[in-house]
Amino acid sequence: MVMSLECTTSSPAETEALAARLAGALRAGDVVGVSGELGAGKTTFVRGAARALGVEGPVSSPTFTIGHRYEAPVPVAHLDLYRIAGLDPEEWADLEPYFDGTVAFVEWPEHGGDWLPAARAHVTLTHVDESHRQVSIDSDDDLGL
Ligand SMILES: Nc1ncnc2c1ncn2[C@@H]1O[C@H](COP(=O)(O)OP(=O)(O)OP(=O)(O)O)[C@@H](O)[C@H]1O
Ligand SMILES: [Mg+2]
Repeated sequence: MVMSLECTTSSPAETEALAARLAGALRAGDVVGVSGELGAGKTTFVRGAARALGVEGPVSSPTFTIGHRYEAPVPVAHLDLYRIAGLDPEEWADLEPYFDGTVAFVEWPEHGGDWLPAARAHVTLTHVDESHRQVSIDSDDDLGL
């Protein structure tokens, strides 16, 4: 671990702004794991990052599909593996295109096991209280945040 940034945000907008900072350090092919319990703010974080990467329109939780892919100068993918209980080769074949040439954000990356490409950064969100979240961003690269 080369870089570990810890901070507390006091609103969804602050979490989105922090995500935008991370987004500025990302490039095509990067995977970012986003962990945290239900309602911790994972989708909020991804929304902020996607906006900063040029995604227009709503960025919502991929609840009824495994993922979304958004066109942007660098395409952005958003996956939620909450319902996945271990991947097999066939399921991985369905997921692989989301990682092709994108910056990909993965909620519940733990459920992907060893199938997912190595993450460039890992984000963990924790409830502090109703409006505050502790956010840590870890990376093996110096992302310059
Ligand atoms: N500081 C904060 N940062 C992020 N979200 C916050 C914050 N304070 C309050 N919230 C609220 O917490 C909720 C976070 O929801 P969000 O969908 O982003 O979480 P999630 O971790 O993706 O949940 P799920 O596990 O259901 O996918 C939103 O209703 C948001 O408004
Ligand atoms: Mg979510």
